[in-house]
Amino acid sequence: MSYFLERIAALDGYTPGEQPSDPAVIKLNTNENPYPPSPAVMEAVAAIRPEQLRRYPHPLANPFRDVAARVFGVSRDQIICGNGMDDLLNMSVRAFSGPEAAMVYPTPTYTLYAVLGSIQASIIREVPFGPDFTLPVKKLVEARGRITYLANPNSPSGTFVPVSEVARLASALDGVLCVDEAYVDFARENCMELARTRPNVLVMRTMSKGYSLAGLRFGFAVGHPDLIAGLIKVKDSYNADAVAIAAAAAAVADQDYREQTRSKVIRERERLAAALARLGLNSLPSQANFLLAQADRPTARELYESLKARGILVRYFNSPGLDDKLRITVGTPEQNNALLAALAELIP
Ligand SMILES: Cc1ncc(COP(=O)(O)O)c(C=O)c1O
Repeated sequence: MSYFLERIAALDGYTPGEQPSDPAVIKLNTNENPYPPSPAVMEAVAAIRPEQLRRYPHPLANPFRDVAARVFGVSRDQIICGNGMDDLLNMSVRAFSGPEAAMVYPTPTYTLYAVLGSIQASIIREVPFGPDFTLPVKKLVEARGRITYLANPNSPSGTFVPVSEVARLASALDGVLCVDEAYVDFARENCMELARTRPNVLVMRTMSKGYSLAGLRFGFAVGHPDLIAGLIKVKDSYNADAVAIAAAAAAVADQDYREQTRSKVIRERERLAAALARLGLNSLPSQANFLLAQADRPTARELYESLKARGILVRYFNSPGLDDKLRITVGTPEQNNALLAALAELIP
């Protein structure tokens, strides 16, 4: 007999990508940005005073909210911050779903949604994406979620649903639409305008990808003040620490730097996709900082293991529909060249 609730004992939990301790490993498995954060971030961290650590941080991370409000053209009460976007996803699952209210999302997608829903004993309704990851609007609406999640760009596919389609879904839903924009800094458009203007749209962002701050743990959500006020009720009291607030504020203020790294990553994404295709590894059109490449001979698993033996980590998902593919993070030109050279040797 387990001490745990039955649903927790039965849960597999979320499996994060591997974080090897050897710095020589070429890490193309967890979609981190290959470039360092803005110098302004390092200056903000260096400027932290002991007093800022002795005291609790601002409970709502207002120093960040004030900068972000200016950058995204919203008011402070339209923003809530979290300890990474995962924290915000957790808050939203707890606030909008449960045994009496469904959460809905198209699949395959970020596997954390299912884990968070299972912990909350939420009704979970998964709706398969249409062909080529088109948005199944009608089926999503029919699933009647109190909250519907859409990762856009989606992971692990990298595919992007046009904002006009997302707007159509938002209009048709009775519940909240949460657009997970973890990878949007590498996409051609975004849903921020929907979050600014629609009463039922939440847009979630992270500093982990576009701002090169996965180690910091900071994310934020934008939406109608009523949605934000409700989420504030379920958040931990001090869910963003003083160092993270200062660093994230500096990062979001430096949009020029974000633009520079974004352009470099996008340029490499297109080069890598073309080079992989020449090796027979075709990928879906990606608007993210990774590619989902189809591998048949050798199999995806064999390639994953052979690459790992050579010190190159990519992501392999041992699940139906994904087990013949590899998710490859776009690295620096040097990292991508090392990957391509290894693949050229491994593929007959
Ligand atoms: C689709 C998606 N959403 C959210 C996150 C979480 O981001 P964070 O690092 O801010 O918790 C990730 C992280 O990989 C992701 O892939």
